[in-house]
Amino acid sequence: MSFFSTIPAVLLAAFFLLAPVRPASAAGGGGSVDTNFDCYGCHSKKEITPWIARTWLESLHAKKGVKCPDCHGSHDEGFKSPKFTKLPGPDKCMPCHPTKVKETMASKHGGVTKCTSCHIRHSFSLKVAMDPKICMTCHQGSPHVQEYGRSKMGVVYDAEGPGNSATCQTCHMPDFIHNVGLTIEKKELMLKVCNQCHSASFVGTALTSGTFKDHW
Ligand code: HEC
Ligand code: HEC
Ligand code: HEC
Ligand code: HEC
Ligand code: HEC
Ligand code: HEC
Ligand code: HEC
Repeated sequence: MSFFSTIPAVLLAAFFLLAPVRPASAAGGGGSVDTNFDCYGCHSKKEITPWIARTWLESLHAKKGVKCPDCHGSHDEGFKSPKFTKLPGPDKCMPCHPTKVKETMASKHGGVTKCTSCHIRHSFSLKVAMDPKICMTCHQGSPHVQEYGRSKMGVVYDAEGPGNSATCQTCHMPDFIHNVGLTIEKKELMLKVCNQCHSASFVGTALTSGTFKDHW
């Protein structure tokens, strides 16, 4: 643990703003993060957007050197004006995550979700994206979804975590696939998912009987 990692990010930022010479590297722990650039220096001030600066600082993006302008460009009319043309859409993720963007666009999620529907700004935390509750911010209507929470799988997930049970993401986004329709279209892929936990004959019956919902 380094000295810096014990200091809250906001204080740390204030320190660097006041200090005559700002070190290029600020974060402790996993990797070193460069915070010595205009966007961070200004946005980390408590009267601007300190939460945004801190959640970015804690993200994997920050550790890998992906900075505000990579997604946002710059203030179109200079830093004195808060004016932007628009907030970033998936086109800004495209250069670095082309497969995820294409898969999302090819599914029913194309045009109806944003990347930030599941990947909260600015931590882009996978822990949040993998929580079934994030899906339920939109999916509430169908009996299939409503029953999940009270199904044994849902109860085991709540009690023991993702390792021992299936979530929406396990069945609809296996292997990081962002086309959520794929395992519905191709039943053999869904069977492969079930097979990670159950016997083929057990889930075969559950899936092909056409009453999967009744099994929750
Ligand atoms: C000198 C201070 C300053 C600097 C430097 C600065 N900003 Fe800002 N920025 C602001 C202020 C002030 C706002 C308006 C905040 C508000 O509305 O509460 C803002 C707003 C924004 C917004 C929100 C726009 C919207 O429509 O909601 C984004 C995105 C943003 N800045 C990104 C950046 C990026 C990227 C950089 C670096 C290229 C940067 N800023 C540099 C002060 C700054
Ligand atoms: C990996 C891409 C990415 C990076 C890096 C990034 N942002 Fe963002 N930012 C986004 C996205 C996406 C949104 C939300 C767009 C939406 O949901 O419509 C957003 C929204 C915002 C907003 C407006 C929303 C709000 O809650 O006020 C501000 C201000 C902002 N970012 C500033 C920054 C600053 C400052 C940095 C660097 C410290 C930064 N961003 C780094 C992608 C990024
Ligand atoms: C300039 C390139 C770049 C841009 C632009 C970018 N990313 Fe990333 N992103 C990365 C890198 C590099 C990683 C780390 C990959 C690794 O090392 O595994 C990453 C990781 C991620 C992760 C995984 C985070 C984690 O904690 O595991 C998510 C989610 C993500 N990006 C979403 C987005 C979204 C959404 C956008 C657009 C708003 C975006 N990224 C824009 C380069 C970028
Ligand atoms: C154990 C695997 C599994 C889990 C967990 C799961 N699903 Fe499904 N889902 C399926 C299967 C299989 C279908 C295909 C239709 C059927 O057989 O009922 C489906 C169909 C769907 C559909 C399209 C049809 C409909 O009923 O609306 C949506 C949307 C959906 N699931 C969302 C979700 C969400 C959101 C969650 C989490 C709350 C979830 N699913 C949890 C396996 C699962
Ligand atoms: C419906 C929710 C959802 C949407 C929308 C979504 N993602 Fe994801 N994303 C996830 C989940 C869940 C994971 C974790 C892995 C998994 O279960 O597939 C993930 C993982 C990732 C990762 C990390 C993959 C890796 O290999 O480490 C990246 C990068 C990413 N998403 C980018 C994006 C981009 C870019 C967009 C917008 C085009 C996007 N995601 C839209 C749910 C979503
Ligand atoms: C921002 C809202 C939103 C979020 C968040 C969201 N979805 Fe969706 N999802 C939709 C909409 C809208 C549709 C299209 C419904 C339709 O066309 O019937 C859809 C469709 C689907 C389908 C049906 C695909 C098909 O081809 O039939 C599945 C499966 C699905 N979502 C799974 C998920 C999972 C898993 C998550 C969480 C990781 C999630 N969704 C998060 C809005 C959302
Ligand atoms: C990551 C592991 C995992 C995956 C993947 C998984 N399940 Fe399950 N399943 C569970 C757990 C945990 C339970 C609850 C344990 C019990 O019933 O004893 C369960 C229970 C069931 C039950 C019995 C429910 C009851 O009330 O007795 C059925 C049917 C079932 N799963 C079908 C499926 C189908 C079909 C798939 C694929 C679409 C699937 N499961 C994928 C972990 C999983």
